Amino acid sequence: MTARRTIAITGASAGIGAALARVCAAKGYDLILIARREAPLNALAAEVEGAHGIKAHVITADLAEPDASQKLVAAVAAKGLTVDGLINNAGFSNTKGFVTTPPEAQAAMLRVMLTVPVELSRAWMPGMQERGWGRILNVASMAGFLQATGGDTLYGPIKSFMIRFSQGLWIENRGKGVHVTALCPGYTYTEFHDVNGSRDQVSKAYPKWMWLSAERVAQEGWDAVEADKPRIIPGKRYRVLATISKLMPDRIGLNTAAKHAKALERI
Ligand SMILES: NC(=O)c1ccc[n+]([C@@H]2O[C@H](COP(=O)([O-])OP(=O)(O)OC[C@H]3O[C@@H](n4cnc5c(N)ncnc54)[C@H](OP(=O)(O)O)[C@@H]3O)[C@@H](O)[C@H]2O)c1
Repeated sequence: MTARRTIAITGASAGIGAALARVCAAKGYDLILIARREAPLNALAAEVEGAHGIKAHVITADLAEPDASQKLVAAVAAKGLTVDGLINNAGFSNTKGFVTTPPEAQAAMLRVMLTVPVELSRAWMPGMQERGWGRILNVASMAGFLQATGGDTLYGPIKSFMIRFSQGLWIENRGKGVHVTALCPGYTYTEFHDVNGSRDQVSKAYPKWMWLSAERVAQEGWDAVEADKPRIIPGKRYRVLATISKLMPDRIGLNTAAKHAKALERI
């Protein structure tokens, strides 16, 4: 790598985002680490700067706020930083059912996981195209390939959107030096299921072999965006599952999704 490039990562305070920060730092990229919790971001920044001699900038932001993207873009500009790569990773889920989830929680989910990724891509992609180099990694999910995610009703459709959105951007950026990839992990050990309160249910329902490490997901995701792949599903077992879901008639897919939602006590 010739010039030092800077990668902005949302949701870098934990899980897959923190693992991606370590992968990018090891490759020599400078970082902009974004999330609400400042302490883990500062600790991660000190760790990767010490280990890899790169610069890691910390910006705290609640991406559920209606003007979050505008504020973030302004904060990055105020620091005089150029964003060469963007990892849209911040996310969470609401597993209590559609009508029992407060509307504000649903709005927050749509903003953090759908609106903000679109807005940040729109803000920073033109510069990437002008400079002839860019990386956008959108952390979607295996859930985006399923017919439905009952009880966590918005999650699957948001992730389907992120897969299709990434693929559309991949087409638009061909030959421009800007790579766009949707990363679609299955169950991954992070704080995600502690935050949504389903750790006990998912641990009971799904055996250890179904679980991926955040480190593996991050490494495969970053390797895929460097290689300009429009989509990556870490783990053969999940690639098989995605193919089966695609071929499955809707009725069978919906019945399977309903069983899954019941096993997780979501419906
Ligand atoms: N774990 C899985 O099984 C799995 C599987 C497939 C896809 N994914 C996807 O992977 C991505 C990362 O999740 P994870 O598993 O690494 O979960 P995690 O360990 O809970 O990390 C989520 C990250 O998102 C940030 N975040 C959440 N709400 C935010 C907000 N309002 N503003 C700013 N940042 C916010 C959190 O930071 P703060 O709390 O500090 O703000 C945290 O850094 C998500 O998009 C998720 O949907 C996860």
